[in-house]
Amino acid sequence: MYEWLKKWWFKCDPEWSHNFTIGVLKRFGRTPLKLLWRQRVIRKPVKVMGISFPNPVGLAAGLDKNGECTDAFGAMGFGFLEVGTVTPKPQLGNPTPRLFRLEQDQAIINRMGFNNLGVDHLVEALKRSKYAGVLGINIGKNKTTPEEQAIDDYLLCMEKVYPFASYITVNISSPNTPGLRNLQHGDALTGLLAAIKQQQRHLTDKHDNYVPVAIKIAPDLSDEEIATMANAIADARLDAIIATNTTLDREAVKGHPHAEEAGGLSGVPVRDKSTHVIQVLAKTLKGKLPIIGVGGIDSAAAAKEKLAAGASLVQIYTGFIYKGPALVKEIVNGL
Ligand SMILES: Cc1cc2nc3c(=O)[nH]c(=O)nc-3n(C[C@H](O)[C@H](O)[C@H](O)COP(=O)(O)O)c2cc1C
Repeated sequence: MYEWLKKWWFKCDPEWSHNFTIGVLKRFGRTPLKLLWRQRVIRKPVKVMGISFPNPVGLAAGLDKNGECTDAFGAMGFGFLEVGTVTPKPQLGNPTPRLFRLEQDQAIINRMGFNNLGVDHLVEALKRSKYAGVLGINIGKNKTTPEEQAIDDYLLCMEKVYPFASYITVNISSPNTPGLRNLQHGDALTGLLAAIKQQQRHLTDKHDNYVPVAIKIAPDLSDEEIATMANAIADARLDAIIATNTTLDREAVKGHPHAEEAGGLSGVPVRDKSTHVIQVLAKTLKGKLPIIGVGGIDSAAAAKEKLAAGASLVQIYTGFIYKGPALVKEIVNGL
């Protein structure tokens, strides 16, 4: 059925299709219509960051930015969901068009720019949700917040989402918020990590509950930069690294009419880059921290590649757009 729907969706503007689908999943997530997307997936339990996952295949951040569709996505058999990126204040994101399909490459370019309804809206949506599975909440900074004050945005979001999250992801790797990726380096990184850890300690005491924190990194880093980041994240005693976000590199889609659109490229063309980042992380970390692998996973074989490189969990976004919920089952069965 997904293939049939896809033919229709793919004739429409990509962002319109996205908004329409999210609207349907939000509106009908808890009605009998859920039978259309509900599927049973066999259990392949894993324990990572001290959390028990029913299977290692998660929904990557960015699809359910406002956390409004957790009931619907939860019914599709994912081992975990990551909602967001959410920012302290609502923001519109970049001007449209800002989402492009590169069908022959099984890829997407996006420059959404953290369009979201704000952290308070997300928290209210999660309060209404009946989803009881593992939930990651991915946090970011508002575009209008100066780079020097970025830490305040992360700390505020952490405080608000902490009671609702199984784990929190600190996103410092979106290419679509000016200056965000600068937080991946030097004093900006160590300062941010220290502040995040301090806030985690404070919130652990306050809620009498330890919520792990993962840092999501970009694929556009040298091996040396990856190793430096990995050591800084481990030294700060954070809990996991998510690798990777989208890439700015267009080598793999050269010549495509959309290739020169600004933004982050995802899907098959980012797969090898993100696998390489995972390999370098694994070599550096030597098991000190778990790695969550994401980037171009569109089959069980591609997921296995990430696990073989050193990931303990995987996430999917673009592959899910091209293949639908059946991909979740295909991967879990094939692992
Ligand atoms: C349209 C779109 C929006 C995204 N938004 C976010 C986001 O808000 N936060 C985030 O951490 N990653 C975001 N991502 C990145 C994905 O979570 C994932 O890291 C990346 O796309 C690579 O995985 P994939 O090849 O399976 O898509 C977005 C990706 C796409 C395609």
